[in-house]
Amino acid sequence: MSIISLENLLNLSGKTAIVTGGAAGIGLGIVNRLAEAGANVVIADYDKKEAGVVVKNSRFNLKAINTDVSSEEGVKNLVEETVASFGTIDILVNNAGIFPIVPLSMLTSQDFEKIININLRGVILCAKYVSEQMIKQGRGGRIINITSIDALHPSMAGLAIYDASKHGVWGFTKNIALELAPHKIWVNAIAPGGINTPGTRKMQVPAPVKTKGDISISIADPMSGVPMGRMGEPDEIGKVALFLASDMASYMTGSQVVVDGGFLLK
Ligand SMILES: NC(=O)c1ccc[n+]([C@@H]2O[C@H](COP(=O)([O-])OP(=O)(O)OC[C@H]3O[C@@H](n4cnc5c(N)ncnc54)[C@H](O)[C@@H]3O)[C@@H](O)[C@H]2O)c1
Repeated sequence: MSIISLENLLNLSGKTAIVTGGAAGIGLGIVNRLAEAGANVVIADYDKKEAGVVVKNSRFNLKAINTDVSSEEGVKNLVEETVASFGTIDILVNNAGIFPIVPLSMLTSQDFEKIININLRGVILCAKYVSEQMIKQGRGGRIINITSIDALHPSMAGLAIYDASKHGVWGFTKNIALELAPHKIWVNAIAPGGINTPGTRKMQVPAPVKTKGDISISIADPMSGVPMGRMGEPDEIGKVALFLASDMASYMTGSQVVVDGGFLLK
């Protein structure tokens, strides 16, 4: 096997990436690093306004395609429009996700369906239609699923359905890594700890969440228990996503990289 220079290992020019939920937070951190490495990047987000602002202000080759990942028609359209614009899809980052705090005693079927539809069904739909396209292209590909440390260990009470969805994504990641390896499609996951994003900033409500029977759940201080003493930044996930999308990770599939400032050590 020939040794590739460091510069070429990280070069994604001529490749096209889709990042779901790429208009903000971790997704945006990933969009910026993949685009800096030369990829055309499609932001597949249901926040049309925010995605438009990101594309307008960027110096990179970005395109926004308004997508709700939980809609099968929406995902099929995402694949068609990406191929019509850029010709191929080489990298998929399944990042879009929600993390509402819903104690079990307060859970409604609407809450349950919404969390599972976006966090698990959305990942499955995007992986299905994008991998079919990658197989047709015949030049391999990369799928990166953003799970969570909650795919391994609960971070706080109130996230039971979220944790179930993320454990599901991790199981799904390993199985499709096996199925897609003959097509040279490598599938890995990144499990972030607490990252400073619009989503986590909204979560930091001061009052405890009341549950039925008046048992309250406290929202964990995001800094407590992080050996590095701080939350992570979206770019710290972006850098790991670039590693997994590039030839730096040429012999990795079915792995989950924990990026949590040491949180799981506690
Ligand atoms: N921030 C953290 O601390 C943290 C930790 C572990 C895992 N994660 C995971 O990382 C991912 C991103 O988290 P974040 O903190 O950046 O979130 P965020 O709420 O800050 O941003 C999420 C983005 O996804 C988009 N989105 C949400 N639902 C969508 C849908 N159905 N279709 C398309 N786009 C959709 C939103 O519009 C937004 O732009 C999620 O999967 C989350 O579970 C986050």
